[in-house]
Amino acid sequence: MSMQDILVHTEAGVSTITFNRVDKKNSITEAMYAAMADALDAAGQDAAVRCVVFQGDMAIFSAGNDIADFLQQSAQGAASAAAVGERPVWRFLRAIASFPKPLVAAVCGPAVGIGTTLLLHCDLVYAGDNAAFSLPFVNLGLCPEAASSLLLPQMLGYHRAAEALLLGEPFLAEAALEVGLVNRVVPPSECNALAQAQARKLAAKPLTALIETKRLMKAGQAAQVAARMQEEGVSFTRLMAGPAAKEAFTAFMHKRHPDFSQC
Ligand code: COA
Repeated sequence: MSMQDILVHTEAGVSTITFNRVDKKNSITEAMYAAMADALDAAGQDAAVRCVVFQGDMAIFSAGNDIADFLQQSAQGAASAAAVGERPVWRFLRAIASFPKPLVAAVCGPAVGIGTTLLLHCDLVYAGDNAAFSLPFVNLGLCPEAASSLLLPQMLGYHRAAEALLLGEPFLAEAALEVGLVNRVVPPSECNALAQAQARKLAAKPLTALIETKRLMKAGQAAQVAARMQEEGVSFTRLMAGPAAKEAFTAFMHKRHPDFSQC
């Protein structure tokens, strides 16, 4: 990873994690997951940090997992359940799902795969009116992660979740607002500033009360979320080594349509 692919900047009690790999549409490599997991661990422990913000570029939040990385992992074959837990992506997912302080996101442009599922673990989400959310796991021969197979049907209702997860078709900012995935839609040029302003409001509040309130809101299903993430992780890594995923990743890298007729 270039040291600049993930930027972490802390100011006035707010730690901001910026996707900064715009030439590859902010797709996320293993090293970037590791950097973000480390940043969250540090922010959780640092008493001076009271809130974390995720942001991307005005034209792209994130194209999701780096597909070249996926192709490499696919070639390595199915990982054991224990090895699943060790990969930086799963460490990052556990870190956002259990992060005790408020998480805020500013999303402009495409938010693909984990670019959308990570939002399910954020407390406040602001979107540019150019935001497009998509969960193309099936189109890649994969299955959902980040407990999205649990949280998305709860949020959208089963049938809309099925449309998002089985067809993998993008949905736009207004639809995300309607189902409650985002708090507010604004012009892209205002999105990061709005998220920062809301984060600073949170940072001015008593941290212990924020932490306790967040914990209580999530207490009902924290264990279920953790268990589902583990179950998804086992399925995801098994599918990753399968023929459909190999075909999808190879097709993407060669800029052609995948052929699933044999999968
Ligand atoms: N992994 C690796 N590289 C990626 C990538 C990803 N997820 N997404 C985009 N890129 C790279 C492209 O290969 C291209 O690289 P190149 O310039 O060396 O050819 C560059 O980023 C620009 O991508 P491009 O597809 O030309 O941009 P676009 O504006 O036309 O489309 C997206 C943007 C995000 C809609 C499109 O890139 C996309 O669908 N990406 C894949 C998303 C995906 O399936 N992610 C996995 C989710 S689990």
